[in-house]
Amino acid sequence: MSPHITSKLPNVGTTIFTVMSGLANQHNAINLGQGFPDYQMNEELMNKVSEVMQKGWNQYVPMQGYMPLRESIAEKIEYLYQTKIDPDRQITITPGGTYAIYTALTSILQPRDEVIIFEPGYDSYIPNVEINGAVPVLIDLRFPEYKINWTEVRKKISPKTRVIMLNSPHNPTGAVLNEEDIRQLKDIVRDTNIFIVSDEVYEHLIFDGIPHQSILRYPELLERSFVCFSFGKTYNCTGWKLGYCISSPSSMSEFRKVHQFNCFCCHTPSQVALAGFLKNKDAYLSLGGIMQAKRDYFIELMRSTKFDLLNSSGSYFICAKYNRISDEADRQFAIRITKEHGVATIPVSVFYKTGTDNKVIRFCFSKKKETLESAVERLIKI
Ligand SMILES: Cc1ncc(COP(=O)(O)O)c(C=O)c1O
Repeated sequence: MSPHITSKLPNVGTTIFTVMSGLANQHNAINLGQGFPDYQMNEELMNKVSEVMQKGWNQYVPMQGYMPLRESIAEKIEYLYQTKIDPDRQITITPGGTYAIYTALTSILQPRDEVIIFEPGYDSYIPNVEINGAVPVLIDLRFPEYKINWTEVRKKISPKTRVIMLNSPHNPTGAVLNEEDIRQLKDIVRDTNIFIVSDEVYEHLIFDGIPHQSILRYPELLERSFVCFSFGKTYNCTGWKLGYCISSPSSMSEFRKVHQFNCFCCHTPSQVALAGFLKNKDAYLSLGGIMQAKRDYFIELMRSTKFDLLNSSGSYFICAKYNRISDEADRQFAIRITKEHGVATIPVSVFYKTGTDNKVIRFCFSKKKETLESAVERLIKI
């Protein structure tokens, strides 16, 4: 008899990203589905990594991460959010934002704990909760603004609630939290045993002069939070899979217990290169403007199509209604336009556990001008 695995994640199959990217390749479609830039990352940073490799930075660094990088992160946080972070006890470098989120949830959760997750939402959250034997408690964001309904949150809080998951700027919708959201959040968690896991991988990709409401701005929230970031998203190198997590010293010590027997430490040359590169404020302060220009250009081009774009205040993404074109289910529509019109997108229903279909698809605009132009040339014909 061959051995058999009882799946810890029986409901997980191949993700839609793999399906849509496969279809895009098969049909030679322009891929506005998966969230990654199709242009080159910063050349100076790239050169720096190969330079430090040549110099011999190719062995393990400490489990918590290369100290000068953690110091640069702490300096940057103080500059951006006026909060002092101890680089020794509050920062851990991780192989990407997704890993930081998983490790944070694994550090906190016990079986049957409840985690509030907003939908639509990034696809790793629910499996991360379930693999820990905990229970996702799902709340729909209010369509079409995709705002949090705090009254609903209050109703869903129970003695078992252990975590509220946040993501701003938000994938897939581009919605962002505002000060009123933070006020509501503070009110809800005060004097409770609830943690916040805040996914801020799009920290710098926020538009129209809106300030990013990082949890790092709010000490009374930070003491009950794990805040997760991604260098891949920040510096257009999603394939580097490097990020970091910030929390209180006591929470971070639990995080590191999980981290040290899973990954131990991350890619050394990238950390050494980033330690210096992070001091360049312009390199991160300019990112929002660059991405906003891409969003605005895409919006302008899309005026000639029958898609109705929703609002996007951040991230790589903007959603669109297609009810002037078709009443098909969003998954069917996205597959059809990939095959027949050569543009791959992501149907937003896949970001809901129960597949709620508001007939909306997600476009990724972190692409070269030419890519956006070629895609819209095709979309105009639909
Ligand atoms: C909301 C959100 N969180 C996390 C990630 C992943 O970050 P990383 O590639 O650093 O793991 C993504 C990537 O698409 C994302 O959209």
